[in-house]
Amino acid sequence: MTTEIESILVENRVFPPPEDLVKQANVSGMEGYQALCDEARRDPDAFWARLANENLVWTKPFTQVLDESSKPFYKFYPDGQMNVSANCLDKHLGTPTENRTALIFEADDGKVTKVTYKELLARVSQFANALKAQGFKTGERAVIYLPMSIEAVVAMQACARLGIIHSVVFGGFSAKSIHERTVDVGATLIITADAQIRGGKTIALKSAVDEALAMGGCDAVRKVITYKRAGSDVQWDAKRDLWWHDVIQGQSTDCPPVAVDADHPLFILYTSGSTGKPKGVQHSSAGFLLWSLMTMKWTFDAKPTDVFWCTADVGWVTGHSYVTYGPLAAGVTQIVFEGVPTYPDAGRFWKMIQEHKVTIFYTAPTAIRSLTKASEADAKVHPKSFDLSSLRIIGSVGEPINPEAWVWYYNNVGNQRCPVIDTWWQTETGAHMITPLPGVTPLKPGSCTLPLPGIDAAIVDETGEEVERGKGGFLVIRRPWPSMIRTIWGDPERFKKTYFPEELKGYYLAGDGAQRDKDGYFWIMGRIDDVLNVSGHRLGTMEVESALVAHDMVAEAAVVGRPDDTTGEAVVAFVVLNGPLPQGDDAAAVAKQLRDWVAKEIGPIAKPREIRFGENLPKTRSGKIMRRLLRVVAKGEPITQDVSTLENPGILDQLSQVR
Ligand code: WTA
Repeated sequence: MTTEIESILVENRVFPPPEDLVKQANVSGMEGYQALCDEARRDPDAFWARLANENLVWTKPFTQVLDESSKPFYKFYPDGQMNVSANCLDKHLGTPTENRTALIFEADDGKVTKVTYKELLARVSQFANALKAQGFKTGERAVIYLPMSIEAVVAMQACARLGIIHSVVFGGFSAKSIHERTVDVGATLIITADAQIRGGKTIALKSAVDEALAMGGCDAVRKVITYKRAGSDVQWDAKRDLWWHDVIQGQSTDCPPVAVDADHPLFILYTSGSTGKPKGVQHSSAGFLLWSLMTMKWTFDAKPTDVFWCTADVGWVTGHSYVTYGPLAAGVTQIVFEGVPTYPDAGRFWKMIQEHKVTIFYTAPTAIRSLTKASEADAKVHPKSFDLSSLRIIGSVGEPINPEAWVWYYNNVGNQRCPVIDTWWQTETGAHMITPLPGVTPLKPGSCTLPLPGIDAAIVDETGEEVERGKGGFLVIRRPWPSMIRTIWGDPERFKKTYFPEELKGYYLAGDGAQRDKDGYFWIMGRIDDVLNVSGHRLGTMEVESALVAHDMVAEAAVVGRPDDTTGEAVVAFVVLNGPLPQGDDAAAVAKQLRDWVAKEIGPIAKPREIRFGENLPKTRSGKIMRRLLRVVAKGEPITQDVSTLENPGILDQLSQVR
């Protein structure tokens, strides 16, 4: 590990919170925030106990708050029992929320379907009864491979209702990725759809599941339940395959929720790390839900009258915390969108905000940057051409938002009225960690500002000592918090090594480099490990490398990120083939073949933007690939570093040429 992280961002503008928000927000003014921070600091257990008692419905109350006996495998509320689905749905029965719209589903073609809280509870219960009737029980694992849909929320909630642990696989991932996750998690059930419809195109899903199961090693899978979305042709295995509409036939819409231990795994979500194998991040039930809900209330200032729209797919953690769980627990009306921001044109998001009168909008910097470009080219799709006056808060997540994109978002979408809430968090943290609060925090474009109450974030050096303000270092969380990752499924050793390295005094290591300015504001500077951030999606360089070397033609591969104006980072691969160095058209053809191969192995998001061929890769005398140099080459910059430690310095010239 190294602390040679230098901050390059200099941004001096400060935007105070809007007056009306300071007055009305759930956390009001800097004093309100400080009071919560002080409460948490004085007695963390009492703080977490109060929040859990006031905000969750418990079947069996807890008597202990934090069990540290086997740290870093922390447990929160260890002897308490509850059910997540009951806390998202049943709790609204008998309140005005029960007849409010829970989900507004807008299909790719613009068709809108609305479901109230009461109706959603009935649909979740009915599907849960169907799962029960098929013999699925608490503790089993279900892989969910569904498009953005009401059914995706129903499937996840139904699993939660029965204590079945779900593992959602993003619909853009390949059969190989489904296979890997199905095997690793030991799934007995897969829930999918015939196809998904995005941007006017129909993309098969069920066939990818079939292909995954045909790869072998998935004998534990007893059933595949398929939701008919597109009416596409599908292959059918009579023993294994069931239609969603058939299994719910005749099932009651009443299904008592199963009380589970607070730490019962709610879900396992795979995410990229520094090795070729994605990590199965295991989350708890009570702690996860508590923080999803608290952050809805604090970060988004959610009120039951809000129309909330998080544009993330349920395949990512953001779609767990801020689509399926947090918003329902908070009782807001929320948008679920099947399509893409650029179809039928790049005004789609703004049109939907206008039509559904969205009040809280949460999206990713990559979407903002691409829509900025589109609206500069065509005034018709510019946010100023729409009535966005319903908005009161606009949020960002997934990667650092550059100050230009921040200011554009603030001016054009928020109309200089809505605070830009730049939320820093990770799959592993379950919910927001460092973020402005709309009625509290003066904003600085590019900074995720200050930690939430109870979150003990710091920047440290490689010995765990806090660094001076203005100096770069490792972002750590010094105390456990309820929604933290519990373990890596099936690999507790990797969990300990990755997140709680010994030299860091038992702190949680986030894997991001960051610095704090003189006001204590956090500025995230990017990953310190071999993880790329492409369009807000995490990709391990090793994952892409493993996929490349799995191809017959490839002898060796090294993958690095290159800064990109729209996607944040772009994947650049350096490849050594098992044959002569390809030239001209030949090189282009091989590059295309390899790019398609990576899309098939992992998914289209992992496709290298560029592939460069060489007879070798730059290596140290001990054989370590010098990725640092490859990053410079990928940017097309001249090498100014000392290359004398290289075994083969000449190779850099060859790799610098675009073939
Ligand atoms: C990056 C997504 C800067 C960061 C919720 C983190 C951010 C990784 C921000 C987690 C932000 C996320 N500012 N960087 N507001 N939000 N990141 O697990 O590098 O998909 O470690 O979770 O994205 O990505 P993940």
